[in-house]
Amino acid sequence: MEKEDIRYLREVVLRKTGIDLSFYKETQLQRRLQFIMLRAGTQDVKEYALLLDKDPRVLEDFKNRFAINVSEFFRNPERFEDLQAKVLPEIAATSGPILKIWSAGCSVGSEPYSIAIVLEEFERKKLYHIWATDIDEDALSQAREGVYSEAYFHSIPPEYLDKYFVRQNGNFAVVSHLKRRIVFAKHDLLRDEIKETFDLVVCRNVVIYFEEEAKKIAFARMSQALKKGGYLWIGSTERIPDPSSFGLRYVLPFFYRKE
Ligand SMILES: C[S@@+](CC[C@H](N)C(=O)[O-])C[C@H]1O[C@@H](n2cnc3c(N)ncnc32)[C@H](O)[C@@H]1O
Repeated sequence: MEKEDIRYLREVVLRKTGIDLSFYKETQLQRRLQFIMLRAGTQDVKEYALLLDKDPRVLEDFKNRFAINVSEFFRNPERFEDLQAKVLPEIAATSGPILKIWSAGCSVGSEPYSIAIVLEEFERKKLYHIWATDIDEDALSQAREGVYSEAYFHSIPPEYLDKYFVRQNGNFAVVSHLKRRIVFAKHDLLRDEIKETFDLVVCRNVVIYFEEEAKKIAFARMSQALKKGGYLWIGSTERIPDPSSFGLRYVLPFFYRKE
């Protein structure tokens, strides 16, 4: 693939999705690109970039293939059990009057809404606020709308579906009192500073395609956004190789605590 063509493709992807492919692992990027280009009926990067720019279906396929927005309610349910039983009691005991949570790379919103449900169900009622961010404006609009097809609900405990959603033309809409607890905003984990600190930072299945340097930037930013004793929750295929270099300590599978 010509460097110049790849540069043009990066420009189009950045403009269309907010994703900066220069932070993505080169080998994975090329492998995936070859596959996606074939599906779009071309082997020419420049031509593919033009298609991506013009044809919403090609853009949609690109996003799906890169698993860019893939998400669901209570993804990896056993980790939500750990959140409920082990992490939440600890942070609730040490936080201020309002528990502050940041869901980074929240995609279409199913992750922060799932966390809100866990907090609503938490036996020691506590005020909470969730800041949910992503770089993808389309994903954020769906998150704000809060309406989902059945495909998003494979892992949700069934009683929560009845309690926190209303049926709407064959889909499911989040009840408004849950919506009010979450603010959705555009934020790039690799570029935008964070001024606040949180009791829990959740960043799952976001850094998987990042290069090592980009991962370091992201983990440093998340750690910086945590209060002392706060928790970082990462995705179930991810790990932080040297957590102490970010001031973090491994506590439970996929949970780290800020020292
Ligand atoms: C696979 S989804 C994960 C959604 C959710 N966290 C989950 O685990 O179900 C990854 C999300 O990360 C977002 N993302 C990718 N790069 C990002 C960046 N630099 N800053 C913020 N979000 C980013 C994508 O737009 C996408 O919505």
